[in-house]
Amino acid sequence: MENFTFYSPTYFVFGKDEENNTGKYVKRFGGSRVLIHYGGGSAVRSGLLDRVKVSLEAEGISWVELGGVKPNPRSGLVYEGIELCRKEKVDFVLAVGGGSSIDSSKAIAAGAVYDGDFWDYYQGKMVEKALPIGTVLTIAAAGSEGSPDSVITKEDGMLKRGGHGEALRPAFSILNPALTQTLPAYQTACGITDIMAHLFERYFTNTQDVEVTDRVIEGLLSTMIHEAPRVMENPDDYQARANIMWAGMMAHNNCCGVGRVQDWASHDMEHELSAIYDCAHGAGLAVVFPAWMSYTMEHDVMRFAQLAVRVWGCPMDFAHPEVTARAGIEALRRFLRSIGMPENFAGLGAREEDIEKMAHTTCYGNGRDGHIGGFVPLGEEELKEIYRLMV
Ligand code: NZQ
Ligand code: ZN
Repeated sequence: MENFTFYSPTYFVFGKDEENNTGKYVKRFGGSRVLIHYGGGSAVRSGLLDRVKVSLEAEGISWVELGGVKPNPRSGLVYEGIELCRKEKVDFVLAVGGGSSIDSSKAIAAGAVYDGDFWDYYQGKMVEKALPIGTVLTIAAAGSEGSPDSVITKEDGMLKRGGHGEALRPAFSILNPALTQTLPAYQTACGITDIMAHLFERYFTNTQDVEVTDRVIEGLLSTMIHEAPRVMENPDDYQARANIMWAGMMAHNNCCGVGRVQDWASHDMEHELSAIYDCAHGAGLAVVFPAWMSYTMEHDVMRFAQLAVRVWGCPMDFAHPEVTARAGIEALRRFLRSIGMPENFAGLGAREEDIEKMAHTTCYGNGRDGHIGGFVPLGEEELKEIYRLMV
């Protein structure tokens, strides 16, 4: 295991009806004038937004609101939010929604107290200061409710980039699994896929002796495999939703990524797909991950075989561990198919003729040096081959 520091100060509030306490937590974490930031309308239709407003009013907290965050959130609305915060003297940003609303809120919170262009933070500058952020989560997926990250797409050039900094960790996050019961099945499945992808990105490492995090990741993956069919069959299954929601947080606040080098090439490849075709992030990962696994398996067959045995229950073929490793990848494909995820470019609306461009941007965009991936470093030619496996 490698040296690490781990500081995850977000105050999590988990369970039924907890959104009615939002005002109390905003007050506890210093907010008196709030920007409520939300998406395309699901929180309005469900009545959630009204309940949140009532809870703010009960604490004497005033608010302004800005809706309209799109999945794969755009920089245009971030600039609008920053202006609004400054004009209205906002001192707290409250995201009501999924990863997109939270990420857009984080960008606004950082930009509102920065003299330069907020986009600097999405080109490598660390976020050191931001307004405090709270979240009321409505989808288990991105893990942004506990992460120090935010992903924004700049309309000019459709560049999808990540911003980072401990100041972006929410002060509090309210996780009521019942709020996710209104999700369309496709979005539930995209979320499940993203959560599993966050675990795979950490699992595939060259760091030795990381038994504790290996086992935590395997436990979380097994949980997802167990809970996913339950929730796909019965979207109102509160307990299944609860397990998935907490797994989503644990998968990405980095408690299971500490002390080990992580990979993240698949996320980098996916961000090109969702930047260009505006597909759901989880759907893109469902296409990328099996292809990436097939391509990189030879690098450490025993790690792939270990995952196949411990998580997918494949029998270990000691004479031919690559058979076991491959069976694990096939089990992942079958699982993703069973929850309705796409399997190839066609399912994402992606085009083969864009492969060269995507491979180039993935390697060199965002100041990268031509290689991505901490497990198997991949250059432009390798990325082209992996993208071709998705066609
Ligand atoms: O906009 P509304 O109307 O709310 O609809 C959303 C949206 O269409 C809908 N939805 C959310 N909760 C709902 C609901 N519909 C009905 N009932 C509910 N309870 O679901 C759709 C997807 O929402 P979105 O917020 O986009 O989902 P997700 O949480 O998957 O976020 C995706 C974004 O997060 C980024 C992705 O790249 C993508 O841009 N990520 C952020 C990360 C981070 N900050 O740490 C890490 C991730 O790897 C990821 O890259
Ligand atoms: Zn993700």
